[in-house]
Amino acid sequence: MSTNPNGRLEGRSALITGGASGIGLEIARRYRSEGASVTLVDINREALDAHAAELGGTSYVADVTDESSMEDAVAAAVNAYGGLDIAVNAAGAGFVAPITELPLEEWRRILDLCLTGVFLSVKHEARRMNDGGSIINIASLNAIQPAEGFAAYCSAKAGVAMFTKVAAMELGPRSIRVNAIAPGLVDTPLTAALTAPPLSDEFLDNAPLGRIGVPSDIADAALFLASDDSSWVTGDLLSVDGGAHTRRYPQVLAAVMAAEAASVTTD
Ligand SMILES: NC(=O)c1ccc[n+]([C@@H]2O[C@H](COP(=O)([O-])OP(=O)(O)OC[C@H]3O[C@@H](n4cnc5c(N)ncnc54)[C@H](O)[C@@H]3O)[C@@H](O)[C@H]2O)c1
Repeated sequence: MSTNPNGRLEGRSALITGGASGIGLEIARRYRSEGASVTLVDINREALDAHAAELGGTSYVADVTDESSMEDAVAAAVNAYGGLDIAVNAAGAGFVAPITELPLEEWRRILDLCLTGVFLSVKHEARRMNDGGSIINIASLNAIQPAEGFAAYCSAKAGVAMFTKVAAMELGPRSIRVNAIAPGLVDTPLTAALTAPPLSDEFLDNAPLGRIGVPSDIADAALFLASDDSSWVTGDLLSVDGGAHTRRYPQVLAAVMAAEAASVTTD
């Protein structure tokens, strides 16, 4: 692939968790095209191998909820490229159920993946990162906008937003910046059920800019936060959502429960 159109990340080493799909993969592509060396980290070995080859980068199979495997993943990036300058923490997933029906193991799984996974990633990235580096956590519109049925996901992502601010305070003396991005609905494998009608119509009704996001919308913001263009920005949660935070979150839970009721009726 062509690299270095503007060279904004020339000579830098970047690690991306959740880098084998969707938002993380698009960020990796953008960083590579701006001259960075990339290390993709993901739990999905097959997708990881395919995309690491495409990007001419390094890959490491790791579960972000496992501390020793995240420590090893960071070491792999440092060993491959002589250091670490940029880290993006994008591994994540959701689960939809009303609180009264939400199994404890699902609550724990989502908190573990979306919040503890970011903690473990930042802990080991920051230990090995060069001074002056940049860490970007992928939070969500749901860090600030509640959604019925999303108790675990909303709580985890709100936690990521606050964790980001604490990390920015602690790492500021090393000139390491820590920011988060709050994407609205972005068309990726994670959101296939939401980006199709009828739910997509509700999302569009609640998006002032009138369209659903694409991964490159988030990559644009992630490039800004990784580059020197944002050298005085830290501890921030940047909304990239077409303005959706100004309105209300669509009734996803109601749609999911209606679909479940219909499938029970037709079974
Ligand atoms: N797509 C959206 O609309 C949207 C909106 C807001 C926030 N987000 C957040 O953006 C991030 C990326 O989402 P996406 O839409 O690109 O999803 P995606 O499913 O396309 O990609 C997520 C990647 O994370 C990996 N992953 C899952 N569990 C892992 C684990 N334990 N360890 C390592 N890797 C793991 C998956 O294998 C996958 O490659 C997530 O944190 C998600 O919560 C997405």
